[in-house]
Amino acid sequence: MCGIIGCVGRGDDTLDTLLDGLDTLEYRGYDSAGVALANGSVQTAKQAGELDALREHLGDQSLSGTVGIGHTRWSTHGPPTDANAHPHCDCTGDVAVVHNGIIENYQELRDELAADHEFLSDTDTEVIPHLIEDALADHEPEAAVRATLDRLEGSFAIAVVIAGTDAIFAARQDSPLVLGIDDDATYLASDVPAFRVHTDRVVYLDDGQFVRLDADGYTVTDFDGTPRSSSVETVDWDPEATGKAGYDHFMLKEIHEQPRALRQCLQGRVDELAGEVTLDIDPEVNRVQFVACGTSYHAALYGAALFRAAGVPAQAFLAHEYAIQTPPIEDDLVVAVSQSGETADTLAAIREADRRGADTLALTNVVGSTMARECTDALFIRSGPEIGVAASKTFSAQLTAVNLLALATVGAGDEDVRELIGALRDLPANIQTVLDESDAREVAREYVDSESFFFIGRRYHHPVALEGALKLKEISYTHAEGFAAGELKHGTLALVTPDTPVFAVVTGDDEAARKTIGNVKEVEARGAPVIAVTDGESDVERYADAVLEVPSTHARTAAVLANVQLQLVAYHVANELGRSIDKPRNLAKSVTVE
Ligand code: F6R
Repeated sequence: MCGIIGCVGRGDDTLDTLLDGLDTLEYRGYDSAGVALANGSVQTAKQAGELDALREHLGDQSLSGTVGIGHTRWSTHGPPTDANAHPHCDCTGDVAVVHNGIIENYQELRDELAADHEFLSDTDTEVIPHLIEDALADHEPEAAVRATLDRLEGSFAIAVVIAGTDAIFAARQDSPLVLGIDDDATYLASDVPAFRVHTDRVVYLDDGQFVRLDADGYTVTDFDGTPRSSSVETVDWDPEATGKAGYDHFMLKEIHEQPRALRQCLQGRVDELAGEVTLDIDPEVNRVQFVACGTSYHAALYGAALFRAAGVPAQAFLAHEYAIQTPPIEDDLVVAVSQSGETADTLAAIREADRRGADTLALTNVVGSTMARECTDALFIRSGPEIGVAASKTFSAQLTAVNLLALATVGAGDEDVRELIGALRDLPANIQTVLDESDAREVAREYVDSESFFFIGRRYHHPVALEGALKLKEISYTHAEGFAAGELKHGTLALVTPDTPVFAVVTGDDEAARKTIGNVKEVEARGAPVIAVTDGESDVERYADAVLEVPSTHARTAAVLANVQLQLVAYHVANELGRSIDKPRNLAKSVTVE
């Protein structure tokens, strides 16, 4: 949600370094982009639209400066216009600021400043450079920025450049910031991909930290100047991981990366011979509350079902609801499921659980993320960077990791643990089979003109139905709803017509499958086209207009395979419609505002 980049020490390459960094941060927002470079003076350029619009606007003009900051925006205050794009400047044009987050007291500050300052945008951010401008009357630049931080309420990651000062000042409060450390240059960004091509050495800043970057390197303090220790860590993925590797879209690449992502997730954690799963965490699990949003919430629903199957009370909560109406916590482990580890709603939920004394566990993809650092424990899903805004490989890895968590802590109830471990081990190869043999493109072409789609599934396939619908909605902009298969007849069946394709996830031939087939017959009787996602174990194909096959496996892992088919359907429908697949309208990855 908004991407920030800064660099010191790149000399003549400063502008290109900023633009290339912003390229990799566009998944955080793409409403507008801008840069500011400083030496004796501050030069800025900003433009509504994606980064290409800024590049075009810059044309041949090359801004110069020894230090620079850049921003790609996801709008909160004010529409995506040139004026609302960051950086924002003070009245003199000597102070430029980029910001991610929300300044909650901005109206009060703006009212106070309005008499003496001219505001050019609708943003909350613009109060910051004007406050710094006032503070510079009495303070040196660094002290002026610190004095300004004292006035701000809300969440922010900010970076500031000031004319005549060869430094970047930055601060973090509830929005991520990470430093990249190289021998001759230092970087600052919302996320590592922004500078990974230059260095793999990083320093994750904590809330309440202030940093000064200059030719001598960096110093980390708290907001009032007390030195704070910081440790340099090494990231374990290559810069190529953030490229498209020849695929048309990041999402397609990430869908195809799933076999590898899941191998990484399983590596060193399962011992099939011994029938054991070993994690490097050992939380006490008596009861579980999962908190998450969006796709991760669907993984949380699936996770809760696994724990319940093992006889352990478990429930999944939408994080934003949990944070404002927290259920009673007894000896619950509270598990935050979050790809980014930065989602503000999920952080708020986990902080509330922590305040009430619960042990917390982050199930996340991002090692240095706020959730990973704030929770009592972290279980990493090891998917590597995911750039497409729509989560794909990380959802499959979340489902895999939550299986490992359940097996390692509470077992599998009546299920055969060895069989389950075998099914998990087979997942990467089975996903590869789905990817190689899928008919999703043909199905997408057949039904692309439908105005509405439904997805149904029972038990482990219910979260898959929800996820299938969400994926289709977000990247194709087509109406879609997912349901527990038994629920359709309680109202929504009224919407089912010959123009509403229904995707039914039916694997195995157990009671759940038979009941879902009953629901399939109900929609078929109303003339709806049925697309069965199935392993062929039941006779659902008899009632289906099209079939998307998955290899036969355990019901838990079949859910992962069925979801891969639905990812491909969503992708191909969106592609047929010519949508902006990696950057769907109105969305951003990593939602760092509540
Ligand atoms: C949808 C999607 C979102 C995220 C949600 C939570 O494809 O990616 O629904 O799942 O914003 O994000 P994380 O998992 O980073 O907490």
